[in-house]
Amino acid sequence: MRYSDTIFRFAGLFLPALAWTQPASEILTPKPGPKPAIHSPGVYGARPNRPFLYRIPCTGDRPIRFTAQGLPPGLALDGDTGIITGRTPAQTGRYEVKLAASNRSGRDSRVLRIVVGDQIALTPPMGWNHWYTHYHRINDALMRQAADQMIASGMADFGYDYVSIDDCWAMKPGSSDPALSGPPRDSAGEIQPNRNFPDMPALTSYIHSKGLKAGIYTSPGPKTCAQYEGSWQHESADAKRFSDWGFDLLKYDWCSYGKLPDTSSLEARKKPYSLMGGILARQDRDIVFNLCQYGMSEVWKWGGEVGGQSWRTTGDLGLEKDTRLPGFYSIAFKNAVLDAFAGPGHWNDPDYILIGFIGNARSQNDPPARVKLSAGEQYSYMSLWALMASPLFFSGDMGHLDEFTLNVLCNAEVIGVNQDTLGKQARIVQQTGDDLILAKPLEDGSVAVGLFNLSEAERKMSISWSALGIKGSRTVRDLWRQRNEGRSRDAYESAVGRHGVKLVRLSR
Ligand code: GLA
Repeated sequence: MRYSDTIFRFAGLFLPALAWTQPASEILTPKPGPKPAIHSPGVYGARPNRPFLYRIPCTGDRPIRFTAQGLPPGLALDGDTGIITGRTPAQTGRYEVKLAASNRSGRDSRVLRIVVGDQIALTPPMGWNHWYTHYHRINDALMRQAADQMIASGMADFGYDYVSIDDCWAMKPGSSDPALSGPPRDSAGEIQPNRNFPDMPALTSYIHSKGLKAGIYTSPGPKTCAQYEGSWQHESADAKRFSDWGFDLLKYDWCSYGKLPDTSSLEARKKPYSLMGGILARQDRDIVFNLCQYGMSEVWKWGGEVGGQSWRTTGDLGLEKDTRLPGFYSIAFKNAVLDAFAGPGHWNDPDYILIGFIGNARSQNDPPARVKLSAGEQYSYMSLWALMASPLFFSGDMGHLDEFTLNVLCNAEVIGVNQDTLGKQARIVQQTGDDLILAKPLEDGSVAVGLFNLSEAERKMSISWSALGIKGSRTVRDLWRQRNEGRSRDAYESAVGRHGVKLVRLSR
């Protein structure tokens, strides 16, 4: 198998003529057709009596007309935009909602189970986070651009929906930059955004008007990692402010909290997250809580109990040193062993997808540059995150999305593995210096298998049904190419490129 065997075409997207641009022959994801295809996961969680916002992810030529049968009372669909809004019922309940989308070329339908209950993030959250592109340069206009591009690029049609501000939106005590200097809180103790964010409610309204959700960041310590104002001793006021501003996700970093006295025991490490987790759950919004303390004190064992929907399991991917392999592999090796701890509503987070144009985490003033990963490495990266049921947050430049990057980010069948309703993280079936094989059971009884070639040359890899714990004949589907390869009784074998992957789904 060679990447150049298959030629697919994307139309209408610009391709910058720069070094490291991938040749079109390395594009594997088939272009979405003109007919509507709904890409929502099978399930969506929301808490009772809260505002609700959901844009039906759907590809196909616009205009598309949407319908939804069986919505919970209090929710309504805009048939032109496919955006569902309203307020969830006060009672818990499960609603089998039949979504349909039609246009001149055809129709598609799909059942989305809306579960009104305690849990949110029943499938891994998906979106974009500003950190690795804009760092301290982030401002209101760049966040709006990201929201615009999430729609214009088609990413939202595949399910990406959180548009998240990371660090550097607050005031920076002691800074000489006039945009960042000034009291970090007003006389009532309310946290103030810096002058790069003149109107937070207007920003979240803008994001929400597109059917997308907004994320924000702070730290339990007095300062954030980049030395901006943190939430220490203002936790309730800040959470209420984020909620009133209209944010739907909070990333809660550790940093300066570690400099406070006695913060190294397990109880001390849980304390700030349990405090904020409780406060967030009491807000009048569903706010996804993303713990960011780099895996200390085995956070995967207690991140769910303190109210987290996801927790970073490792240090910063953008700072991870390459060994023989690019840094995302070593992050993945650490995260892949934690499969027992992931499930609906609580996910291991190995950090963001750093492909496309990325800023340098060690030299943050450098302009974003094309990531130095081969095509095979980028397919491996996305396949690992899909199999590990990781939150899927792209952190590259939304103003500079090229055809190859979008083909990696936007393959509905690969994303379908990540968003599968069963919510299992893949287990490691085989790992040596040269190869890694992961298997993820899926709700329909099929299994997604990733064969990762860690060696320096193309080689044959194989996996037996007995190693996967399955029996009988299976259809093998190549998920990147969205093509069946035929049936097999007992094993699968394929050539896999250097540092590359073969990602297949085995169904009865
Ligand atoms: C830490 C986090 C990163 C990012 C920065 C912001 O390093 O791990 O993801 O949020 O802080 O300063």
